[in-house]
Parts: sequence; C-alpha cells; structure tokens
Amino acid sequence: MIDFEYTSEQNMVAKMVRELAAREFAPHIKEWDEKAIFDPGTLPKLAGQGILGLSTPEKYGGAGFDYVSLGLACEELEYVDTALRVILSVHIGLVTLPILTWGNEKQRTKYLPDLASGKRIGAFGLTEPNAGSDVVALETKAEKDGDGWLISGEKMWISLADVADTFLVFAWTDQDKRKKRDHSGISAFVIERGMPGITTASIHGKLGVRAGNTGSISMDRVKVGPEHVLGEVGEGFKIAMFCLDQGRFTVGWGATGLVKACLDASVSYALSRVTFGVPIGHHQLIKEMIGNMKVNYEASRLLNLQAAWMKNKGLRCTKETAQAKWFACNASEKSASDCVQIHGAYGFSNEFPAERFYRNAKGAVIYEGAREIQALMAADYALGFRTDKPTRKSLPPHPYPENWQ
Ligand code: CAA
Repeated sequence: MIDFEYTSEQNMVAKMVRELAAREFAPHIKEWDEKAIFDPGTLPKLAGQGILGLSTPEKYGGAGFDYVSLGLACEELEYVDTALRVILSVHIGLVTLPILTWGNEKQRTKYLPDLASGKRIGAFGLTEPNAGSDVVALETKAEKDGDGWLISGEKMWISLADVADTFLVFAWTDQDKRKKRDHSGISAFVIERGMPGITTASIHGKLGVRAGNTGSISMDRVKVGPEHVLGEVGEGFKIAMFCLDQGRFTVGWGATGLVKACLDASVSYALSRVTFGVPIGHHQLIKEMIGNMKVNYEASRLLNLQAAWMKNKGLRCTKETAQAKWFACNASEKSASDCVQIHGAYGFSNEFPAERFYRNAKGAVIYEGAREIQALMAADYALGFRTDKPTRKSLPPHPYPENWQ
C-alpha cells in the first residue's frame, strides 16, 4: 500500500518548524543576508525546540523523529532561507547521523546528547582547496604517533566552520595508498575545538547563503588518541560517502522548500502585478513558468519522500538520495531564475526575496555533490557501472530499534 499522507507526528514537526522560522528568522533574514551575518542566536532557538536533535534517538537525548520529519524540517527552514537549512544538513546529516551509525557506544554517548541539545555544534571537513568532487585528492594527513595520530591539513568551504566545535574530518592514514589513489588509506576522525593546532576562519564574499557561516579549518599536528577515529582505520572514504547520503538527503528536501518559496512568491506577484490590463498571471508565458514550479515542487517532494521511506526502512538509498538531490536542486535553480523573471525589474532588486532565492539556489547545484557528479552517478546506475552494495554499517531504521547494532 502506498500512503501519501504525512502522519500526525510528521505534520506536527513541519508545523513547529514553520512557526519557529516564520516568527524568529523570517523577520530578520533580509538584514542577515544583506550584511552577511550568521546570527549566533539561531542555534539556541533551533536547539530550544529540539530541532538540532530531531533525528537523534531518545536514548541519546534526541527527539527520535523519523527521516520524513527531518526532511520536512529542512523544507520548512529553506522556505525561509537556505542558510537555516544548511545548519541541519551539517549538524544532523553530516555529523550526528554518521556518529550514530559509525560511532562506537563510547563515542555515541560522548557526542550525541551534546549534539542533540546544541551544547556541541558539528561541522564536516572533507573538502579542501584542491579536493572537492575528487575526494581522494585530499591532502590532509594523519601520521602515527604512539597509539594515536597527528593530523595536519586544511579544509575549505566548510559550513559552520567558525561556529562549530565538533569536527568530523578525513585524512590519509596510509601515504603509500595515497600515491595509488586507493581510498582505503583514508580515515575519519572526530576532533574538537580547543585541541592544540586547530584554527578556523570565516570566508566572506559568497554569492549566496550569506546568512550562513562558511569557512576553513586548519590543522597543524593536531594530536588525537585512537578514540577519535570514527569507524575503522581505512574506512574514511566509505564514511564520507555515507555522510553525503545523509547530507544530500537534507539538501534535496531543502531545495524543495526553495521551489515552494519561489512558487508562492511568484503566484502572489502574478496575481497583483498588472500589465496589458490584466494581472500578469493571465499571460501564458508567466503561466508556463508557474506551472513548471508547481510540478517541480511535486516531483521533488515525491523523490525525496521515496528516499525518506527507504531510510525509514533501513535500506541503502545512495541512488535514490542522489537523484532526489540532483532533481530538486536543478528545480530550485530553475524556479529561482523564473521567480526573478516573473518579478521583472523588481526581481532584480532586493526589494523582493526573488534575487536572494536566485543567489541561494546556485550553491546547492555545487555543494554536497555537484550537479555533474549527480548526473554521472545517475548515468552509471542506469548503465550498470554502479550498484549499491550492502555496507558494514547502515543508518538505523525508524522507529529506532532498542538494541540496534
Ligand atoms: N556508503 C557506504 N559506502 C560507500 C558509499 C556509501 N554511500 N558509496 C560508496 N561506498 C563504498 C563503495 O561500496 C566502495 O567500496 P569497495 O571499495 O569496498 O568496493 C567504495 O566506497 C568506493 O566507492 P565508489 O567506487 O563508488 O567510489 P567512486 O570513486 O566511484 O566515487 C564519486 C566517485 C561518486 C565521484 C565520489 O567521489 C563523490 O561522491 N564525489 C563528490 C564528493 C562531494 O559530494 N563533495 C562535497 C563535500 S561536502 C560539502 O560540500 C561541504 C559542506 O560543508 C556541506
């Protein structure tokens, strides 16, 4: 049986996030975006409603909601601004769920309750100045130091870099394998602000997501014990890919919220702006753009729901997640461009949010797997060059089983 209705719990999460975003963030977002300010008050407000621990099992101090609820929260936040959704992508998608899945019990109990309450904020350090789509080109290295490691390198374009305190970073632990581009020489580490050798900085001058913090993480011989390795030594690449399965999921849902924001703004303008004696919504070429937004919203939502349904069942859904992210982000970029077009000259000014939507939409076709990577992945699945094999660890199904792993 296929059920397209949200449960009362899922509706409740969406409503709670929608109301919070409308009340606390929407009135300020234009100013934050114009001044390129990340408002530090945003995090406690999200934490206060339990949103930072939305997907963390109750056993680890979270709210224990399912993956549809996480998606809806992302949709509602990005409806107001992309920068708000990015917080959940990074904090929950790229840090909390990976620690939940790949962490040992000690790591789960150490990090998850603090991440859920907002006492800790997570960031994800994979990308480097010379390594984005090509993950194995990363240069960060971890040298053996007794039973621990000394990590050195530079991470760039890291969301929340300058506000987070718990960083999931990836480094080569085997230099011979690095020379052969063998991904099994990469390992994942959880490191913490305050460890000697870690510094972070913010990056300014971004096209979009200006109300969000983006920065760099420098690591200069950061000394960590073996308890900071996530998963097994050598599993870093697979963990990074797992992280992206969760991050892309949140980006796809967020992009759907942005399509909806463009649709609502366009409908409202098209009903009030008059040209040639009628509201512009009566002109066929405007209708075509609005019709596209509408169907793109529905199609994005359904692709995201498919991925969420699979996650709830505990099924691997790298393919479905990547396709949903690809489709929804392309849809948001097109919708935002058309939203500006419908607003005409007003769309070109910051009097209306259309130009902010347009700038924000560009990010998501670049980060967390560029449009080109998603296209190649989709083609490789279709051609039979890529299949999703079972992995050593998988996302816990929902409802979270008591004795899971
Ligand atoms: N989960 C678990 N394991 C996985 C996996 C997943 N999702 N995906 C792949 N693996 C495993 C495979 O099973 C395989 O295992 P074996 O070697 O044992 O067979 C291994 O990992 C290698 O997998 P692939 O052969 O599929 O790897 P690939 O080299 O073909 O991957 C790629 C190529 C798809 C282009 C990949 O490198 C990729 O996705 N690149 C894009 C990276 C990206 O999105 N970067 C954005 C960074 S985040 C960001 O933007 C910053 C921010 O702060 C938000």
